[in-house]
Amino acid sequence: MCGIVGYIGFREAWPIVLKGLKRLEYRGYDSAGIALMNNTGQHIYKKAGKVAVLEEFAAAQDKSGTIGIGHTRWATHGAPSDRNSHPHTSNNHKLSIIHNGIIENYATLKEELIERGHEFKSDTDTEVLIHLVEEIQKIEQIDLMEAVRLALQEVSGAYAIVIMDQDNPDRLIAARKGSPMVIGVGAGEYFIASDATPIIEYTKNVIYLKDGEIALITKNDLLIKQLDNVVQTPLIQELELKLEMLEKGGFDHFMLKEIYEQPRSIKDCMRGRIYPQEGKVQLGGIKEFAEKLKNIDRIIIVACGTSWHAGLVGEYLIEEYARIPVEVEYASEFRYRNPIITEKDVVIAISQSGETADTMAAIEMAKERGATIFGICNVAGASIPRLTDAGVYTHAGPEIGVASTKAFTAQVTVLTLMAFYMAQQKGTITTSKLIELLTELDHIPEKVELALESNDLIKEVSEKIKDSTNCLFLGRGTGFPVALEGALKLKEISYIHAEGYPAAEMKHGPIALITEEMPVVFIATQNSSYEKVISNIQEVKARKGKVIAIVTAGDTEVKKMADYCIEIPDANEAFLPLLATIPLQLLSYHIAVMRGCNVDQPRNLAKSVTVE
Ligand code: F6R
Repeated sequence: MCGIVGYIGFREAWPIVLKGLKRLEYRGYDSAGIALMNNTGQHIYKKAGKVAVLEEFAAAQDKSGTIGIGHTRWATHGAPSDRNSHPHTSNNHKLSIIHNGIIENYATLKEELIERGHEFKSDTDTEVLIHLVEEIQKIEQIDLMEAVRLALQEVSGAYAIVIMDQDNPDRLIAARKGSPMVIGVGAGEYFIASDATPIIEYTKNVIYLKDGEIALITKNDLLIKQLDNVVQTPLIQELELKLEMLEKGGFDHFMLKEIYEQPRSIKDCMRGRIYPQEGKVQLGGIKEFAEKLKNIDRIIIVACGTSWHAGLVGEYLIEEYARIPVEVEYASEFRYRNPIITEKDVVIAISQSGETADTMAAIEMAKERGATIFGICNVAGASIPRLTDAGVYTHAGPEIGVASTKAFTAQVTVLTLMAFYMAQQKGTITTSKLIELLTELDHIPEKVELALESNDLIKEVSEKIKDSTNCLFLGRGTGFPVALEGALKLKEISYIHAEGYPAAEMKHGPIALITEEMPVVFIATQNSSYEKVISNIQEVKARKGKVIAIVTAGDTEVKKMADYCIEIPDANEAFLPLLATIPLQLLSYHIAVMRGCNVDQPRNLAKSVTVE
């Protein structure tokens, strides 16, 4: 949440910082601001609204300067407004700061600073931090880096910050704890950002600042220390990211592009990991634990949101094939319970961003209690893969649309591979069965391609139900997490209230909601629960509900009952989520577009939830 960008070098900073903020807007988009330094001093431009509003506001103003910092905000403390937008300044207005995270003890610090004569111009926790830095510098008579280092020892919470100083216009100070930060290394210039997307077009060489590190950056030099003052040798890594991955490539929205990328992303996720002819799965990231997997008592999956839905699919598959008991937990609940965890447990943390605060806290707790932690993550080098003992990347490529699509199917693909891998290790599956399953899995990307061909029909169905105020999604077996995911997609981008339920649970409550006005989306493919789902469809039809059914190609039974049927290719039940999710993503996309919603940046949401 919140995106930060900084630049120091020989080029004009404004266009670099502004473009960087547009790339990071998926992290927060309720207000934005930029501070620039030039020979007349420090100049701050900030506005509530999107980065485009800031751009327009500053259009006619002088924006010269080769040092700059910028921020796009997702409000935590203080409503989205001009005054609460970052950068914030110190009491003497000489220092400015951008911040991603939360300063938890800001209220106490603020009171003390007010007693010392500080006047605050915003309601934010961030402003308190920059006043604190100024106060420490004044009292201790020390340089800025040292003052920042000492100030950070007084704060609790999470932060990625960049500070600019009018009295030292040749430097930036950056630091992080619990929020991500990448430093791009150029020739005579440095770039700082929450992730690598604002940096990629200028340099491929980056340093991932580690938790508890602070950096002094001038255009030709970089000094990194730990908060305990020990100097660090920076590790420069090469980015694998490509610029085209960050562009819409002819699609109207990132979400649509990402939906259409799924045949490719699922394939990338399986590449080098499945050997259908030999009936073998190889997961290099967890192979060190291959022996341990033979004797584990239990798997606990922790995640949030869509990643949690992927976890539910994982539960079905791991229990079915590897016969290991699985529990799927919301990370936010798990971390505050007192769960029973032993050294024989494996915790699998799933996160697209690799930065979700609750998931990270759940990992830390499970780690302290001795469990082995695996991660399933999309963003290479993010915090979660660094915290875990081992893991498997999803390789879906950058996901820019706030609503998760290709990351979900990639997570499900990894969990499917993990289920087969564990089954292989434990001997709960025969090689011939694995040959059969992997041969089919290998062709799933082509089937996803076929599922995407229903786009025009889905658009027509969307037109019919776009004005609904409520919608129910029902499924059984692995169709249940798919239903949950379909409901989440619809509500988050179109703002239609939607619920996902196990189809059989409908009669224990939700059935009361069914009227002619109520669309009910069924996952009604031909699998072990097909007949039961048909009965549930009849129950809805008997109450005049409008049924939209996701069916297996060639289905005739459901077609007799449903108002609209959308076909997906036939597949083994294990692979149903990878196919049935596709039409639901397209349905929510088209409905949201028809309702005039901002599909890529739905209101109140952020892609990376770094606050609990
Ligand atoms: C919904 C969505 C969110 C995320 C959740 C966890 O479309 O994207 O529900 O799944 O915020 O995020 P990660 O996976 O980054 O931990």
